Amino acid sequence: MNHQVPRIVLNSGTVIPQLGLGVWQAANDETEHAVRFALDEAGYRHIDTAAAYGNEEGVGRGISTSSVAREDIFLTTKLWNADHGYERALKGFDTSLERLGVDYVDLYLIHWPMQDDDRILRTWDALEKIAESGRAKAIGVCNFEPRHLQLLIDHGGTVPAIDQVELHPHLAQRDIRNFGTDHGIVVESWSPLGGTSNSGWGKDSKPNTLLTEPIITRIGDRHGKSAAQVMIRWHLQSGLIVIPKSVHDSRIRENIDVFDFELSEQDLSEIEALDGGVRVGAHPDQMNVGGPE
Ligand SMILES: NC(=O)c1ccc[n+]([C@@H]2O[C@H](COP(=O)([O-])OP(=O)(O)OC[C@H]3O[C@@H](n4cnc5c(N)ncnc54)[C@H](OP(=O)(O)O)[C@@H]3O)[C@@H](O)[C@H]2O)c1
Repeated sequence: MNHQVPRIVLNSGTVIPQLGLGVWQAANDETEHAVRFALDEAGYRHIDTAAAYGNEEGVGRGISTSSVAREDIFLTTKLWNADHGYERALKGFDTSLERLGVDYVDLYLIHWPMQDDDRILRTWDALEKIAESGRAKAIGVCNFEPRHLQLLIDHGGTVPAIDQVELHPHLAQRDIRNFGTDHGIVVESWSPLGGTSNSGWGKDSKPNTLLTEPIITRIGDRHGKSAAQVMIRWHLQSGLIVIPKSVHDSRIRENIDVFDFELSEQDLSEIEALDGGVRVGAHPDQMNVGGPE
């Protein structure tokens, strides 16, 4: 079992394992199995879910039936778009805790900024209140562009601990990473392997082309590692938090088996050169699904 996952200290003082398991597009039963397997058999200590994934119950069951103590697990969930606004956010958080069957989460994130700056601030006020209560050890955001992050900073309260954004070799997100470095906000990569073909992005669903990208597979061949392992190493060596998703035991193991090799400067720069600003998911300015009525 692998326990070499580095840890990063967030601006809240909370310590997060740099590699975790994502569970988007996994049903409750397969999520329960994947979470338990990841914790008990593969050495993961960090799970990333969201209210919108419909599998918080499965995550909760996987955690409670594993042999790992709750306090040794870093658990993230996210506030869905319908729960923006102060009172709705407080309720949305309570519902997530109930579904997860836990009395706190380690990280609570706003899932999307949506297109309403006043409402973003009211939602953030609610997350600050939740953090003050100790029921979220850290609070942060997803899919925030630098201007959204600046909005929260100018609001004058808590600076988000994390911005979780789409980030992989085709979308290196330099502006957000530079902004994060300047303001103590750690960047976390979603769809770190290039996402799932036939994904939940509806008609905009794009095939995963990174897992078969020749430059990446060639680097993998040099190290005796898969394309997925090369990409996970790239995120880790770039100082990013990475949450690859799989519901298959062998891949869950494979994705954490990345601490016996290192990418060279040349490998890293070959991967950097793949950045074309190409997304597989939605742009934050266009994502307006499921907002409050
Ligand atoms: N905040 C947000 O807005 C947001 C948006 C999207 C995702 N996320 C989070 O980020 C996590 C990861 O992103 P993602 O699920 O979109 O995509 P991803 O982790 O980049 O890719 C997952 C896909 O790759 C496959 N896969 C996993 N490991 C593999 C391996 N070793 N070899 C070959 N294929 C492999 C998975 O299939 P199998 O499962 O069949 O193995 C799945 O189809 C999500 O699960 C979620 O927790 C957050």
